[in-house]
Amino acid sequence: MKLEGKVVIITGGAGGLGKESSFLFASEGAQVVVADYHERSAEETAREVNGVGLGVDVSKRDQVERMVSEVIQQFGKIDILINNAGITMDSTLVKMTQDQWDTVISINQTGVFHCTQAVIPHMIKEGFGRIINTSSIVGRMGNFGQTNYAASKAAVIAMTQTWAKELGRKGITVNAVAPGFIMTPMTEKMPEKVLQGMKEKVSLQRLGTPRDIANAYLFLASNESSYINGAVIPVDGGLSI
Ligand code: NAI
Repeated sequence: MKLEGKVVIITGGAGGLGKESSFLFASEGAQVVVADYHERSAEETAREVNGVGLGVDVSKRDQVERMVSEVIQQFGKIDILINNAGITMDSTLVKMTQDQWDTVISINQTGVFHCTQAVIPHMIKEGFGRIINTSSIVGRMGNFGQTNYAASKAAVIAMTQTWAKELGRKGITVNAVAPGFIMTPMTEKMPEKVLQGMKEKVSLQRLGTPRDIANAYLFLASNESSYINGAVIPVDGGLSI
């Protein structure tokens, strides 16, 4: 068991990537806190992994602080935070509304800031921590119709590198995973023709599975990655090369 006795918060833990990660982390011995905007789904997933489900909107600072105090009250520490919650609200630059911009930035970017800032004092106290942020290949490459999303995911990379520099000396590593195109409820909304076009661009000729990403999260959470800090690991089947 790679995570025996570790306490992990997975934001967006009831979604495609988060749920799979909750299962994998629990199977490696972690106590999993499934933190999701959809409280009922969070509780359902938590029941399946013998963990704790909490409803939280990561864009709301007070809700994030409440979530962290509940976890500390219950477990006394937080070893691993996976900043996985994220949304898309696509539109070309010409058509993008202020609300589409603000909403995506407040969840994908400010949400990562809120959660990390809230857990860090507890990790510093323990002299140990693993922060794993979910970026995206579009944070480096941009993508048609995703000004807001690509900007938020580029910010995630910048925060990852900044925090790695600030927190390494405290025993905390901060890394990011940059998924390519993964089959989850987020991508299932896309037309079949678009999905087929994506597969053809991937050198492995297939879309990723949630397990492909969960495996990368697990690696970054485990002792095997203890000398990796500030890295952004693409998990994209070769799409970005
Ligand atoms: P998903 O839509 O299946 O799951 C996202 C989860 O986040 C949902 O359960 C949702 O309720 C939760 N969530 C949304 N807003 C929230 C908020 N304000 N506070 C707390 N929870 C909130 O999406 P998926 O595919 O599992 O994505 C997970 C992460 O991976 C996201 O950050 C996404 O941007 C990123 N990603 C996904 C890719 C893909 O192809 N599926 C590609 C690249 C990155």
